[in-house]
Amino acid sequence: MGQLHARRTVRRVRRVAVFGAAVVFAIGSAVAATTASTPAGQPAGQKVAEGSDCLSCHAVDHKVVGPSLAAVAGRFAGKPGAQSLLMNAVKNGHVGTWGQIPMPPHPQLSPKQLQQVVAWVLSLAPSSKAPAAGAAATTAKLYHYVVNGKTVSLNFQVFQPGTHKVSADVFRGFELFNSYCFRCHGTDATGSEYAPDLRKSVLNGMSAARMTDIAMVGAKAKGMPSWAGFFEPPQIRKIYDYVAARAYKLVGQGTPQQ
Ligand code: HEC
Ligand code: HEC
Repeated sequence: MGQLHARRTVRRVRRVAVFGAAVVFAIGSAVAATTASTPAGQPAGQKVAEGSDCLSCHAVDHKVVGPSLAAVAGRFAGKPGAQSLLMNAVKNGHVGTWGQIPMPPHPQLSPKQLQQVVAWVLSLAPSSKAPAAGAAATTAKLYHYVVNGKTVSLNFQVFQPGTHKVSADVFRGFELFNSYCFRCHGTDATGSEYAPDLRKSVLNGMSAARMTDIAMVGAKAKGMPSWAGFFEPPQIRKIYDYVAARAYKLVGQGTPQQ
């Protein structure tokens, strides 16, 4: 339970930080009475998003676990009632408009924070870019490794070129896995009686994006915590890289060579 405790502590500290920022803002605006931005020029709503868990699941310009915030703006900006509709969605949680993945509720946000964060989302320019996912897929570089006479092709680098030393990302993934995931998923991603062997999940076709969805949303009723607000997607990506390197037997048990 040590890990879960540590996690709660981090959340509490974050919440305090958000509260502190809101107070500073309130004083600042009373004195200066200018626009809804902090001294650094950052919209207050963006601060709320950064202090909460929003950026674990959302990016401004591309889909992560939830829709891109620019796409949300494109769908709702200028529509009557959008502000209160979206405040309700963020406060109480929502599912079905963008797919089958649910957004969790945010009871900890004050009405003012909800108002600010939604106003910020609605202020974002709708994305006119072509969907980035397809472009990224076609240009993704592949790395080929030979394991026991078979070639494995991966879309990320396992080793530093020309060495047997793992990449910084794989090494960080090893550290994160053995700090936060090992208790249920087994040390060095070996699986356990408590939770699935994630090497098998990868071999069965789980992508990094899918692992991010599951890790951020969690499955509380089944004992899988939600990591939203604790991790952001790049960290889950590193965990994925390590687990995949383990799954394809490129990296053994124990501390990888760095
Ligand atoms: C665990 C992942 C997760 C977190 C954390 C999260 N969201 Fe979401 N969000 C989603 C998903 C998934 C959807 C799509 C829900 C749907 O299909 O109706 C969504 C949808 C939305 C929408 C559109 C709602 C609608 O009715 O179309 C807004 C606005 C939004 N999120 C803002 C936020 C804000 C602000 C935060 C932080 C306070 C946040 N989200 C945190 C996953 C998340
Ligand atoms: C407290 C125990 C616990 C911890 C810690 C934990 N998990 Fe889980 N995880 C579970 C359980 C239990 C399941 C199975 C849930 C189910 O049956 O839906 C699961 C399922 C998953 C799945 C889906 C596997 C599949 O094939 O469907 C992924 C991905 C996952 N966890 C990733 C992670 C990552 C990444 C971490 C560390 C950041 C982590 N988990 C930490 C308990 C845990």
